[in-house]
Amino acid sequence: MSDIIEKLQQIVGPAQVLSAKQVAQRATHFWNPSPMVARALVKPATVDQISDVLRTCFEHGQSVVTHGGVTGLADGEKSTSDDIVLSLERLNQIESVDAVNRTMTVQAGCVLQSIHEAANDCNLLYGVDLGARGSCTIGGNISTNAGGLSVLRYGMTRDQILGLEVVLADGTVITALNSLIKNNTGYDLKQLFIGSEGTLGVVTRAVLKLRPATPTRNTAIVAFNTFEQVTETLALVSRELNANLNAFEIIWNDFYRLSTNPDITGTSRAPLTRDYSAYAIIESRGASVESDKQQFQQTLEELLEKDLIADAVIAQSETEQKDIWQIRENVDLSLRHSPLFVYDISLPVNHMEAYVDEIRTNTKKHWPDAVVHAYGHLADCNLHISIAPKPENFIRDTQQQPIRIQAFNEEESKWYETVNRIVFEPLASIGGSISAEHGIGLLKKKYLHYCVSDEEIAAMRLLKKSLDPKGILNPGKILDME
Ligand code: LAC
Ligand code: ZN
Repeated sequence: MSDIIEKLQQIVGPAQVLSAKQVAQRATHFWNPSPMVARALVKPATVDQISDVLRTCFEHGQSVVTHGGVTGLADGEKSTSDDIVLSLERLNQIESVDAVNRTMTVQAGCVLQSIHEAANDCNLLYGVDLGARGSCTIGGNISTNAGGLSVLRYGMTRDQILGLEVVLADGTVITALNSLIKNNTGYDLKQLFIGSEGTLGVVTRAVLKLRPATPTRNTAIVAFNTFEQVTETLALVSRELNANLNAFEIIWNDFYRLSTNPDITGTSRAPLTRDYSAYAIIESRGASVESDKQQFQQTLEELLEKDLIADAVIAQSETEQKDIWQIRENVDLSLRHSPLFVYDISLPVNHMEAYVDEIRTNTKKHWPDAVVHAYGHLADCNLHISIAPKPENFIRDTQQQPIRIQAFNEEESKWYETVNRIVFEPLASIGGSISAEHGIGLLKKKYLHYCVSDEEIAAMRLLKKSLDPKGILNPGKILDME
């Protein structure tokens, strides 16, 4: 056995180091069942152990890929047979909740849903919510600056973090578990690590900002005939629902049709007919049962009176709320196309309609039958576009054939390059971004210069070199060093 594996076993105990063969029994990714590849996988239980593991890897020039819930969509977690995977799965405790100061201290391997539940037990909430809540971890959320479904109200993960503990490449532990809302004492180092996708340090613990719980929930799905109606509706609900507006999610017709197709979903019934050009889920959350409901209904009535929406259904029960949200959260249905190219671009709302049309037209020039699904967080200027060049390759039975994303064969990789250019190229001239919330990882590295200047890239390299001089942390992700 190699020297380094023995040392890692001494640090965490032999049972907590999986060999390459044992690693292969794990799936590569939440959505990709092919075997994980790594030299070994290490499962430390304490920050001290993580520090020792990194110090050892640093001494050996050993590359390290840190894993949370492996639900990311940019191949940021991808490992090779040369890498040690550092899994934070045993560092999964909620250490404390301070209900008076509205903070929670958590370990990086905590699953997002357990954070929501612990906050809820104290009549508080944590501001980031996303579809993968049951599997993704807070460490992964922090490393990717995750966004999700309530960014319009609470901001991204960056806006929820008060303090952070990070272990640097050489094993140095930076414990900066600030819990104050206001603290202007020098460089705000935590912001450097948030969104750095495991390339600058390993996040081990965090102090989260909590907010007052919003026990009332009013949800509707509305239909539009034109995109102008969409933008005017967003302006009106932002004004009328104001601070209570919790979500404004757009779904273009193609994705709505897929997500409400009873032959595929087995259950869903479309709450609104399936021929409108777009739909939005609008949700208000607050604390006053009667007045919130009244405000929501009045706002919807105003939208109808002003002809800003063509039709609407307001959920009358929790089950109906769940059914409405399911239409948006059925993202796995679009993932059943194989291959499927998934994007999380940002662009000004006023360019969205023309942009989506352009992408659709240009994709169909190459693949006339291609399916282009568009949906996303409209109020955050963030669209998800998923493109399936060959819609006939739809997986009907996921038991028979599991979903497989981001593992393309040679021909599919060429298609991916073509589609990347179709999706990314128009963004530069309209002030868009190639990643709103999923990050760069490996998949978008080549296109970083589309929306980041050479000078910014040079400064990023400088940071990476200073904090990780041997380049051992998640090598090759976000940036090439040359
Ligand atoms: C979502 C993921 C794809 O918003 O970011 O559903
Ligand atoms: Zn999203």
